[in-house]
Amino acid sequence: MTSYCCFYIFLLFGAKVICDSLEDHNSGVGVTCPLGYFPCGNITKCLPQLLHCNGEDDCGNQADEDNCGDNNGWSLQFDKHYAKDRYNKMKSPYAFQTKTPECLADSVPAECMCQGLEIVCDGAKLRAVPSVSSNVTMMSLQWNLLRKLSADIFKKYQDLQNLYLQNNKIRAVSEHAFRGLYNLTKLYLSHNKITSLKPGVFEDLHKLEWLIIENNRINRISPLTFYGLKSLILLEMMNNSLARLPDKPLCQYMPRLNWLDLEGNHIHYLRNVTFISCDTLTVLVMRRNKIISLNENSFSSLQMLDELDLASNKIESLPPYIFKDLNELSQLNLSYNPIKKIQMDQFDFLIKLKSLSLEGIEIGNIQRRMFRPLRNLSHIYFKKFQYCGYAPHVRSCKPNTDGISSLENLLASIIQRVFVWVVSAVTCFGNIFVICMRPYIRSENKLHAISIMSLCCADCLMGIYLFVIGAFDLKYRGEYNKHAQLWMDSIHCQLVGSLAILSTEVSVLLLTYLTLEKYICIVYPFRCLKPRKCRTISILVLIWIIGFAVAFIPLSNKEFFRNYYGTNGVCFPLHSEQSESSGSQIYSVVIFLGVNLAAFIIIVFSYGSMFYSVHQTAITATEIRNHIKKEMTLAKRFFFIVFTDALCWIPIFILKLLSLLQVEIPGTITSWVVIFILPINSALNPLLYTLTTRPFKEMIHQVWYNYRQRRSKRSKGSQKTYGSSFIWVEMWPMHEITPKLSKPVLCTDSSEASVTTQSTRLNSCT
Ligand SMILES: *[C@@H]1O[C@H](CO)[C@@H](O)[C@H](O)[C@H]1NC(C)=O
Ligand SMILES: *[C@@H]1O[C@H](CO)[C@@H](O)[C@H](O)[C@H]1NC(C)=O
Ligand SMILES: *[C@@H]1O[C@H](CO)[C@@H](O)[C@H](O)[C@H]1NC(C)=O
Ligand SMILES: *[C@@H]1O[C@H](CO)[C@@H](O)[C@H](O)[C@H]1NC(C)=O
Ligand SMILES: *[C@@H]1O[C@H](CO)[C@@H](O)[C@H](O)[C@H]1NC(C)=O
Ligand SMILES: *[C@@H]1O[C@H](CO)[C@@H](O)[C@H](O)[C@H]1NC(C)=O
Ligand SMILES: *[C@@H]1O[C@H](CO)[C@@H](O)[C@H](O)[C@H]1NC(C)=O
Repeated sequence: MTSYCCFYIFLLFGAKVICDSLEDHNSGVGVTCPLGYFPCGNITKCLPQLLHCNGEDDCGNQADEDNCGDNNGWSLQFDKHYAKDRYNKMKSPYAFQTKTPECLADSVPAECMCQGLEIVCDGAKLRAVPSVSSNVTMMSLQWNLLRKLSADIFKKYQDLQNLYLQNNKIRAVSEHAFRGLYNLTKLYLSHNKITSLKPGVFEDLHKLEWLIIENNRINRISPLTFYGLKSLILLEMMNNSLARLPDKPLCQYMPRLNWLDLEGNHIHYLRNVTFISCDTLTVLVMRRNKIISLNENSFSSLQMLDELDLASNKIESLPPYIFKDLNELSQLNLSYNPIKKIQMDQFDFLIKLKSLSLEGIEIGNIQRRMFRPLRNLSHIYFKKFQYCGYAPHVRSCKPNTDGISSLENLLASIIQRVFVWVVSAVTCFGNIFVICMRPYIRSENKLHAISIMSLCCADCLMGIYLFVIGAFDLKYRGEYNKHAQLWMDSIHCQLVGSLAILSTEVSVLLLTYLTLEKYICIVYPFRCLKPRKCRTISILVLIWIIGFAVAFIPLSNKEFFRNYYGTNGVCFPLHSEQSESSGSQIYSVVIFLGVNLAAFIIIVFSYGSMFYSVHQTAITATEIRNHIKKEMTLAKRFFFIVFTDALCWIPIFILKLLSLLQVEIPGTITSWVVIFILPINSALNPLLYTLTTRPFKEMIHQVWYNYRQRRSKRSKGSQKTYGSSFIWVEMWPMHEITPKLSKPVLCTDSSEASVTTQSTRLNSCT
């Protein structure tokens, strides 16, 4: 009776949730374009963010298809300052820019190629700089064995403009190594083993524009290192070991510096003086450093800055006015920093910002207010797709799905949207049917029947859970991104999630209990000859209490569990993401890998020893033997229930283990598990427990028999026999139809037959 009650309470709860949710549906947004929509250029049409750059002209004026690639920031800058696709050339400079085919230089070594006044000696195993005629303008010595650059080594090549020294073994660079290279414009020193650059080493390079020193081991630089680089535009020091930047202004001697790339160093701090004279800097890349904190004035002189990349650092908080002077900034990347909180007005000064990356940042206090001042923002990147609802005017927002939900729908895939209803209907119907029918079955064991009813109640909750999810999916259809975050934070989501957990936990515990009961009966037959009613009832009550506790504890402490259920659209706490609060992570592991796995092992072990002990014992007392026989048939049936359980739970154990091993699990898998694997168990239990059991079949036979009796009294016809056998085929497809329908008592249910039906049903679970 208690089971009935809770079932109805939950049914009412579900209905209330749906009614509530339908009420607050019509809350419009009064901006030019509604939330989640972007304007079509200069016409008044608004389109959903999703249609942006989908390859079709949805606006009619192509406005949704321009500006698709996010090429703000450096790529734009680069195109502005240098010819297109020069950047790639810079990365792998393939020599010979001259058009003269014949060699104009003298004494060129045999290993080298020469064209005009350009010499290429790549991969020539040279150990020293070759001596060629002094009027060469380009020299490429890549992939050689140079070990050091000694003083005055290039002094005679005063006309040299480009010098390529990548992929050598250079460790030491003399203070005077580049003496006399007054005409040098590009110097490449990448992929060497340089550890330090002495102050004044580039003193004579007045015309140097590009200095590329990536992938070396430079650990310290001083402003004096750059003394003399009056024309330097681009300085690239990616993948070095710089631990700190000088306390003096870095750009003091490089007044034209435009582009500074310090990616992949070990820089911890940015002081307020570091960039103080970098007035012309437009691109500053500090990605993959170890920056912990920023000074409020760190960027205050960078008024020309166009791109700022601070991604993959260790920044925990942003000073409130750190971006106040960056009026020209068009691209900002703050991704993958452990930023805890973003100020409401943090981005207010970045009026020209076009691209903002906040990937990997959990923005607990996200508000529309934060992004509203960024009127020209066209690309935004978040950790979670549901944040997109807070930047509705941004045309391109990524990610647009978490695998479960998309910007439009709570359930992204159409198959899931349909099956959530099918599975829900099957589960609810099967369980309610059994709950209603069970009292009419002359069961051999009333206590067993109570346990089964309890199990059906628990399984039914799973159906209700899916029903509610389906209902909310329907409600949010087409505009889920407006509601995603609110839905996940809502009490509805929490309650629905706890319903699912209540259902699974009670189901698991009940199955364990039923198994243990069978186990005791078979292994210790004398102990259970008369089942104790009181004990059974109290155990059932205890199981439900534990289920409620497990399901509702996470709602009690918001500090510790954060949003335990609301981590995804289906509100099921599988917690595959590492960055979630450790409290909920641990709790989830304890439940799924602790309680459930333990229960599963107990069940498997019990069955193992049950069958073993039956096999071994040779009891003579007929009464006991009959009793065991009866228990054994039940146990066989039960075995299949447990087997399906195992098939359903093992994927979850594996998922959980993988996520413990830091394997990233796509959200798609979670949603399939939640919609198909978990509930199929609940949908199957009533079939396996009741609908295929002998007493139930007998009852059906009886009902049918009575019905026929009455019918044949009223009218006599021959077609009824046909009709009856047809119905039997429908209901028991695997069962041989006994011709003696008129004597239902003789229609025996051989356990093999039920085994076959069960095993066919089993297949649907895998
Ligand atoms: C929108 O701009 C395009 C050019 O960008 C122009 O040809 C068109 O007339 C404008 N439409 C309106 C309604 O202003
Ligand atoms: C470069 O110098 C060599 C001799 O060192 C001379 O033969 C050649 O003509 C010079 N080429 C030019 C273009 O000045
Ligand atoms: C190299 O520089 C010197 C002096 O600065 C100048 O006289 C000469 O013309 C330059 N050569 C080239 C090829 O620019
Ligand atoms: C810098 O180092 C990272 C990781 O060590 C590597 O993936 C990247 O290719 C390097 N960059 C360059 C330009 O070599
Ligand atoms: C830089 O910060 C120091 C203290 O950290 C302060 O004394 C100094 O005035 C600041 N300089 C500028 C230019 O903001
Ligand atoms: C921002 O930085 C992250 C991490 O390095 C990178 O994956 C992402 O592509 C960057 N975003 C943009 C728009 O460049
Ligand atoms: C936004 O961009 C448009 C066109 O690119 C430009 O005309 C406008 O001035 C920009 N707005 C701001 C605030 O920079």
